[in-house]
Amino acid sequence: MWENIILEMEESIAILTINRPKALNALNTNTLLELDEALNEVMKDNTIRALILTGGGDRAFVAGADITEMKDKNAMEGREFALLGQRVFAKLQDMLIPTIAAINGYALGGGCELALACDIRIASSKTKIGQPEVTLGITPGFAGTQRLARTVGLAVAKELIFTGAQINADEALRIGLVNRVVEPEKLMEEAKNLAMKIASNAPIAVSLAKQAINKGIDVDLNTGMAYEAEVFGLCFSTKDQKEGMTAFVEKRKAEFKNE
Ligand code: CAA
Repeated sequence: MWENIILEMEESIAILTINRPKALNALNTNTLLELDEALNEVMKDNTIRALILTGGGDRAFVAGADITEMKDKNAMEGREFALLGQRVFAKLQDMLIPTIAAINGYALGGGCELALACDIRIASSKTKIGQPEVTLGITPGFAGTQRLARTVGLAVAKELIFTGAQINADEALRIGLVNRVVEPEKLMEEAKNLAMKIASNAPIAVSLAKQAINKGIDVDLNTGMAYEAEVFGLCFSTKDQKEGMTAFVEKRKAEFKNE
C-alpha cells in the first residue's frame, strides 16, 4: 500500500514501521505523507487501543529528516518542510489512543522528534539519540526545540541541541528522555506487553487522561485542573465506569467495552 510505511495489527494493537532501512529510515517528504495517511487509517479503526511506532531494519528508528532531500532547499521550501513534519507529528501527538515509540538504534534529529511526539519511549540498549541539526547548519525543525525542552527540561534540552551530541540509551534514561531500556531482542516484546497492559484498562478513561495531560502541559495549572474535572465528570457517563466500579465491589475483573 505504501512505499516506506508498514502498518500491521496484532489483536487491538497497531504497529507502524517506518521502513526505509537503506537510508536508515530517514524521513523524506513521501515518507512523511505516507505516515500521515497511516495515522489516518489508525484513527479510523476504533478497535485499536494503542499504537507502537518503530523503525525497519536493525540499525535505526529514524536517522533524521532526509538530508539529501533538504540539501538544496531554499528558505520557503525549508519552512514548508518543517511545517509538514510538525503537522504530521502533531497528529501523532493528538492521537486519542496511547502511542509508544520502540526505538531500535539511531533516533537522530527528526527521529528523536518523532519519538518525542509519542506518549512513551522504550529504547533498545543500542540506541543513539540526539538532535544533531546544528552540526548540519540548521536548527531542529520538527518541534525538537519545543518538545525536547518540555520533556527533559530547558537546560538539558539546550545542552543536547547546542552540542548536537548523540547520547546512549542509559544516558537517555537518566535524563528522562526514554522511559526504559531493554536488550534489542526484547524491544518489541516489551512494547507489546506495555501496549497490552494499557489496552486492558478502560479505553475512554485512558484516552481522556492522555488528553488532560497533553492539554495541561500547555496551559496554567488552574486551567489544566478545570479541564481535568471536566473529563473526570465525563467518565461517569460511560458504561465502563459503571463496570469498573461494580467489578471492584463484586471482587471480579472488569470487562471494559469502550462504551
Ligand atoms: N538523511 C538521508 N540519508 C541518510 C540519513 C539522513 N538523515 N541518515 C543516514 N542516511 C543514509 C546515508 O546517506 C547512507 O546512504 P548511502 O548508503 O546511500 O550512502 C545510509 O543511510 C547509511 O548511513 P551511513 O553510511 O552514514 O551509516 P553509518 O553507520 O556510517 O552512520 C549515522 C550512521 C551516524 C546515523 C549517519 O548516517 C548519520 O550521521 N546520519 C545523519 C544523522 C543526522 O544528522 N540526522 C539529522 C538530520 S536533520 C533533521 O532531522 C532536521 C529536522 O529536525 C527536521
